[in-house]
Amino acid sequence: MADERRLRVGVLGCGPIAQAAHFESASKARNAELYAICDVADDLRERMAATYAPQRSFRDYDEMLADPELDAVIVATADAFHVAAATRALEAGKHVLCEKPVGVAVEEVEALKRTIASSGRVLQVGHMKRFDAGIQSARNFIADEMGEMLALKAWYCDSTHRYAMTDAVQPKIIRSKAARRPAIDPKADLEQYYMLAHGCHLLDVARFLGGEIVEVEARLSHRFGAWCWFVDVGFASGALGHLDLTVAVRMDWHEGFHIYGQNGSVLGKTYNPWYFKSSDVDIFHEATGETTRVLGADGHFYRRQLEGFAATILDGAPMTGADIDDGLASVRGMVAVARSAHSGKPVKLADATGAV
Ligand SMILES: NC(=O)c1ccc[n+]([C@@H]2O[C@H](COP(=O)([O-])OP(=O)(O)OC[C@H]3O[C@@H](n4cnc5c(N)ncnc54)[C@H](O)[C@@H]3O)[C@@H](O)[C@H]2O)c1
Repeated sequence: MADERRLRVGVLGCGPIAQAAHFESASKARNAELYAICDVADDLRERMAATYAPQRSFRDYDEMLADPELDAVIVATADAFHVAAATRALEAGKHVLCEKPVGVAVEEVEALKRTIASSGRVLQVGHMKRFDAGIQSARNFIADEMGEMLALKAWYCDSTHRYAMTDAVQPKIIRSKAARRPAIDPKADLEQYYMLAHGCHLLDVARFLGGEIVEVEARLSHRFGAWCWFVDVGFASGALGHLDLTVAVRMDWHEGFHIYGQNGSVLGKTYNPWYFKSSDVDIFHEATGETTRVLGADGHFYRRQLEGFAATILDGAPMTGADIDDGLASVRGMVAVARSAHSGKPVKLADATGAV
C-alpha cells in the first residue's frame, strides 16, 4: 500500500552480497526502503549510490548509525566484522539483519545475545533459506501433519561450476582495492572458510526442519582439492540425522534433504540461490497417498527475509527468520563438526567453545 510505513534500511558494506542481494531486496521490498548505504571504499560506494539512489551515503559507519531517520542496518561485511558491527548498531538503537554466519566464535555470539537483550531491538540472522517457500512447505508439513520424525538427511554440495552459474545470472560484481578486509584473509584456511560460508546454511536448514541438534560426529575427507564432511547428527527429538557438506562436487550444484516421518515423507531439492528458484519439495501424505509440491513462484529469498524482518519491527509479526539462538546454534554446530572431524569423537553442541 502506498501509505504503508516502510522500514528505513542502511546497508553496511557494498561488497558482492550487497550488490547481488541486499540493494535490490531493499529497493523492491513492500515494507522497506534502501535509505542508506555505507562503505569505506569510496569508488565502490559512489558507484552503488549512483546505481541504487539511496537517500544517504556514508563513508563512516558511526555517522550512518547517528542518523535518526535510519531504522535498521543490514550487516553485509566479512564474517569477522559481524558481531562488532551488529553490536554498534544495537547500541545506537538500530535493528539489525546480520549476514550469516552471525559470528565466527561461540563466545562473541553469546556476548551479542546479551547486547540484543539489553537493547530491546530486533536482530535477525541472514539464514535466507528459511524464506524459501519449498523449505517452508516442508516445515509446515512437519509441524502440522507428519507426526514423529524418524530420520533426516541433508546435503549441501557446492559445484566446481558455481562461478559459471552465478556469473551468468548475477549483476556484474564491482570490486574495490579500497575495501576493508579482515587482517587474516578469510580464504587463507579453506577448511574453516567452507565451514563458515556453507556449513552454516546446512546446519541451519537441518535445525529448521529437524529441530535442535544435540550432538555431532563428523568425518572429513580432503583430496583433489575437494572437502567432504559426513556428519552423524543426534537431534533432541531422537530422530537420526546425517549431513553431507562437500565443496566442491564435480557436477551441478547439489543441495537438498530427505525426511522420513510417521505420516509421510519429504524429498527436497534446493537450487543454487542465485537462480532465485524455490526448492522442489515433494511431500508424500501417507493418509491420502498423494504427493504435493508448492510452486513457490516468488523465489527471492533475500527480499522475502527483509520483508519478514521489517514486518517483525513494524507490525510486531513473529520472527520467521533465524533469531540469535538459531544463529548461535549454527555457530556451535560448526565448531562441534570441526572439533569432531579432528578428534574423531562425538561432540555435544553444548560443549562447543571457541572459534570455528
Ligand atoms: N546469504 C548468502 O547467501 C550469502 C552469500 C554470499 C555472502 N554472504 C555473506 O555476506 C557477507 C559479506 O560478504 P561479501 O563477499 O559481500 O564481503 P566483502 O568483504 O567482499 O565486502 C564487504 C564490504 O564491506 C565494507 N566494510 C567492511 N567493514 C566496514 C566498515 N566498518 N565500514 C564501512 N565499510 C565496511 C568493505 O569495504 C567491503 O566493501 C559475508 O558474511 C558472507 O558470509 C552471504
